[in-house]
Amino acid sequence: MANIVIGVTGSIAAYKAVDLTSKLIQNGHEVKVVLTDNALEFITPLAFQAIGRNHVYTDTFKEEDPSVISHINIGEWADLIIVAPVSANTISKLANGIYDNMLLNVLAANTKPVLLAPAMNVHMYEQPAVQRNMKLLLDEGYQILDAESGFLACGYNAKGRMANVPDILGYIEDFLSGRENAPLEGQKVVITAGPTREALDPIRYLTNHSSGKMGYSLAEGFKSLGAEVVLVSGPVKLAPPEGVRVVDVVSTEEMFEAVRQHMDADIGVFAAAVSDYTPVSFSEGKMKKTDETDNLVIELKKTQDILKYAGHNNEGMYVVGFAAETDDVKNYALKKLKDKKADCIIMNDVSNPAIGMNSDDNEVTLLFRDGSEKHLEKASKPALSRKIIQELLEHTGRER
Ligand code: PMT
Repeated sequence: MANIVIGVTGSIAAYKAVDLTSKLIQNGHEVKVVLTDNALEFITPLAFQAIGRNHVYTDTFKEEDPSVISHINIGEWADLIIVAPVSANTISKLANGIYDNMLLNVLAANTKPVLLAPAMNVHMYEQPAVQRNMKLLLDEGYQILDAESGFLACGYNAKGRMANVPDILGYIEDFLSGRENAPLEGQKVVITAGPTREALDPIRYLTNHSSGKMGYSLAEGFKSLGAEVVLVSGPVKLAPPEGVRVVDVVSTEEMFEAVRQHMDADIGVFAAAVSDYTPVSFSEGKMKKTDETDNLVIELKKTQDILKYAGHNNEGMYVVGFAAETDDVKNYALKKLKDKKADCIIMNDVSNPAIGMNSDDNEVTLLFRDGSEKHLEKASKPALSRKIIQELLEHTGRER
């Protein structure tokens, strides 16, 4: 059984939050309720206190228990926070980092999953600012149980009504039982990330500017959906994602050997910036500058193409490659899709320093083998990874 916080904001649907509290208590959960001042215009704390048998919080500065700071303690206590109903006002404040009441302070200090159930007039719901702010919150990892169409208190028959209580309850129970969160349970995903280093001598090597952020974000995204993730990583300065098996490699050859050990994966995502060439010979001692040689020529040979190997030698792996291009991006990406026998190529323009290699953000287009494509607007790599994974799952048919 879980610890659940219900936040209630100013909407006529606030009365439904009493029913939700009651149903959660009946299901054996413990519930704490936080009301905004606007919610108090519609409903009293006593209604929730009588049902939940817990203190109801309304004011950041009214500390009943001196041993804790309530707006921090509540989030630490919770397994899940639900804001139902959430008004246009609270959505917009939350999306813009305005924390001027108890509920918003609880959310500011919170690290637990949050479910938002909007309720408002249809025109408020359709406001570009409200839509934009909901999108921002989705990108930041908030879950939104979309409003329904139906009779609204303002007299319209339109979209804006809070999702009904059984649906919210079903969503919560699904979430708590892990079903909602683990659609990839039992699936194995192998991911390559970061650069490779091709050694010239004991102290010098050929490499590139890949930071590994894209591949690591994808690893976290797949892990959060319940997949078993093997992350084959070139040398990067990132912390290993929790619960992910990281295989550290340096050269393309090592990366290839590591991937070959995991060809049984259901999904392979090749986000590493792999060196296409490696020195023909390795100098055991430090290469010396000589008086005779002004222009040094280093002979290189092709490396093993890991993505191509996976595309041509898999037994059912869904193979996803990246295409890092600076010009004629789509044509090169389409050629890679075909030559490497990938199921999907994710193309990014690495000539733009604001996205792609060694930046926090990226903007990509997914090209699928069936000819379809999907552009995903610029977003942080973690947020973009969630969207990439969603698109991939829709194509692999693994979506719940
Ligand atoms: O690491 P970040 O700083 O976050 O940057 C992310 C990224 C720009 C590196 C990433 O989004 C990306 O585009 N990765 C692929 C980079 C690349 O090497 O692209 P490519 O077009 O040269 O190669 C095409 C595909 O073949 C890639 O999936 C690559 O991993 C794979 N490849 C290439 C050569 C090789 N020998 N083996 C491979 O597997």
